Amino acid sequence: MKTLILAGGKGTRLWPLSRELMPKQFVRFLDGESLFQKTVERALKFSKPAEIFVVTNEEYKFRVLDDLEELGVELPAENIFLEPVGKNTLPAIYWGVKRIEETFGDSVVAVLPSDHLIEVNEAYEKAFARAEKLARDYLVTFGIKPTRPHTGYGYIRPGEAIKEGDRVLGYRVAEFKEKPDLETAKKYVESGYYWNSGMFAFRTEVFLEEAKKHTPEVAKAFEEESVERAYELVPEISVDYGVMEKTDKAAVVPLNVYWNDLGSFDAIYEALEKDEDGNAVVMKGKRTYHIGVNSKNNLIMAERLTATVGVEDLIIIDTDDALLIAHRGEGQKVKEVYKHLKEKN
Ligand code: GDD
Ligand code: MG
Repeated sequence: MKTLILAGGKGTRLWPLSRELMPKQFVRFLDGESLFQKTVERALKFSKPAEIFVVTNEEYKFRVLDDLEELGVELPAENIFLEPVGKNTLPAIYWGVKRIEETFGDSVVAVLPSDHLIEVNEAYEKAFARAEKLARDYLVTFGIKPTRPHTGYGYIRPGEAIKEGDRVLGYRVAEFKEKPDLETAKKYVESGYYWNSGMFAFRTEVFLEEAKKHTPEVAKAFEEESVERAYELVPEISVDYGVMEKTDKAAVVPLNVYWNDLGSFDAIYEALEKDEDGNAVVMKGKRTYHIGVNSKNNLIMAERLTATVGVEDLIIIDTDDALLIAHRGEGQKVKEVYKHLKEKN
């Protein structure tokens, strides 16, 4: 199976840790590896290096190359697709899939976003093996069991089971709804919907056909001779709105593993190990550390010796040139800071 890694997003909710020039997928949050590197390692489970493709932005080319070199993974240079500008996930996937098909003919492709943490175990591998089979006929999604009514995800209602003999491989998607409002999300969580993990698997021909059918403007733009022109013309739209909500060829494979999209500092706090006071601390540099006096349940990511006294439930992110202090639970609003910065510049 081939793998197409998406690594062109910006990640505005993690300012000042992620910046336009250092988006989330390249940040080394947890154990010194970037999320992009972790994604490449996952891709290697099902694809040889020559079968791994990356769609990213011109601006991130060197980050991709450096990360790969550090991992000791060599992809053919022509497997790295550089978009002149980001137009969200549908153009990125469409272009990547089209190029794969032009070079290799009809192929099964797994699409992996590079912005989340996911546990790789037997359940993960089994789900991908099922998806590879289903991918002959369906646009396969991976369903995560929701833990709360998050409004930043896609929701999937599983329908009829798809079987191979007696074995259930997955389910038809009865409904796909991208980023619902809170009320709707609550209803979905209660009535057994899955979260869309953001990963997909399909046959190139099926995907291109469905994309053409449901968002013809995208297909049309990529008929242009030059990529620059295509990206000028192509609308900005995600694969979720542009294809997954509309297609009747979607299937879902439930994926029962730890999954965290690290979409906000609240999600990062959740993913990290805590000390006995419930503080999650990530210090950059060997000689830096955190001194907590009567401080509980804070997230602290800092580049210098940091002390907290008598504070609870704070997000403290200290970098070279910017400091963020927020309340835990308000992580989603950090993108407002980014908006202010954009207006100023
Ligand atoms: N090459 C490229 N170009 N990559 C992009 C672009 C682009 O213009 N925009 C986003 N990406 C990459 C991001 O880096 C990320 O790895 C992936 O595509 C997904 O994009 P996000 O922008 O992070 O999507 P989302 O989080 O709002 O929503 C998606 O993921 C959720 C799960 O995390 C959807 O698929 C939801 O349905 C899903 O629940
Ligand atoms: Mg995301």
